Amino acid sequence: MVGRDGGADVDDVNRLDSLLDDALRETAAAGDTGAVEAVRLAALGRKGWLTGALRDLAGLPATQRPVAGRRLHAVRERLEAALTEREAQLSALAMAARLLAERIDVTLPAEPVSAGRLHPLTRVRREIEDLFGRMGYSVASGPEIETQSLNFERLNIPADHPARDMQDSFFPALAPAYVLRTHTSPVQVRAMETAAGRLPLRVIAPGRTFRRETDDATHASVFHQVEGLCVDEGLSMADLKGTLALFARGLFGPDTEVRLRPSYFPFTEPSAELDITCVACGGDGCRLCKETGFIEILGAGMVHPRVLATGGYDPERVSGFAFGMGIERVALLRYGIADVRLLQAGDLSFLEAFPTVDREGVETA
Ligand code: FA5
Repeated sequence: MVGRDGGADVDDVNRLDSLLDDALRETAAAGDTGAVEAVRLAALGRKGWLTGALRDLAGLPATQRPVAGRRLHAVRERLEAALTEREAQLSALAMAARLLAERIDVTLPAEPVSAGRLHPLTRVRREIEDLFGRMGYSVASGPEIETQSLNFERLNIPADHPARDMQDSFFPALAPAYVLRTHTSPVQVRAMETAAGRLPLRVIAPGRTFRRETDDATHASVFHQVEGLCVDEGLSMADLKGTLALFARGLFGPDTEVRLRPSYFPFTEPSAELDITCVACGGDGCRLCKETGFIEILGAGMVHPRVLATGGYDPERVSGFAFGMGIERVALLRYGIADVRLLQAGDLSFLEAFPTVDREGVETA
């Protein structure tokens, strides 16, 4: 019945069939690939019953060998097909179980993600861009490391001019023709060059500026300005004042009064400072406004004919006005912040007083 080495007797058909039946049953019942492998080993391993029977084929008389051989191969094929099929079933079942366990419900509402907060300087800059954007101004920019020529000479500030003392800056030792720009006014000239005579020209230019200053509550050595420039035919101080009044009321409220006070800048003529109603006392007089009811927010004036000419415009035909303000200063006034250093310290408990924004930058709370 049983072959020499424990295999099925090659010519015992009943015994072979029952071994095959058992193996097929065990295969169908196998709960994992290890159990399938065990059936395979018991039949087709080195000492397996089918391996033994196949080996015994050689000992059969030549007349019986073909019939027995065909039968054995048929048994092997059936068994192997069953084993392969069960393995495929088990791995499909395992995959289905895994997919079920790892299922993600994509229809669940996402958890709201806060992208943080906008720095007050960013909020103010955006507000300023927005207000002037609505008046037809586009945003221009220039480099922070500027040529001395654009920062000074072409703004009508020659090398020996006393105005340079008020804007002492940082001069890169290895690049003597350059300076860390002391104001955003060089962008006036750059914008005029880019516009190449086109009218009207209306730009604002926010950016970082540098001065050799000792930091205190209202001064920083690295700060930000927004430059504004408008060039067209027939512009006057009235246009300048009207534009700045609209801007000041947009930023500080509709009741804000503005006044121009004569001043001096080499690149504007005439020049003025713009004062607005004191944000602390509403004009009654307080410590912030030194009892005057007004506080200064920016410098401005009609673009000097020499500056218009250096920008490629004919000062006989067109005129322009320009203005420049400190973003830190506007932010201090806008939010009632006492010290500019608070804006630069990166102190989270201070910054957390400002609203959060979502991923699109829209304020959420
Ligand atoms: C200028 O820089 C001129 N370029 C402004 C201008 C532009 C006038 C166009 C006419 C036409 P001023 O030095 O005043 O001017 O600076 C302008 C503003 O920058 C100041 O009102 C102030 O708000 C801000 N600012 C100047 N220095 C500092 C500083 N060290 N720290 C913080 N803000 C400063």
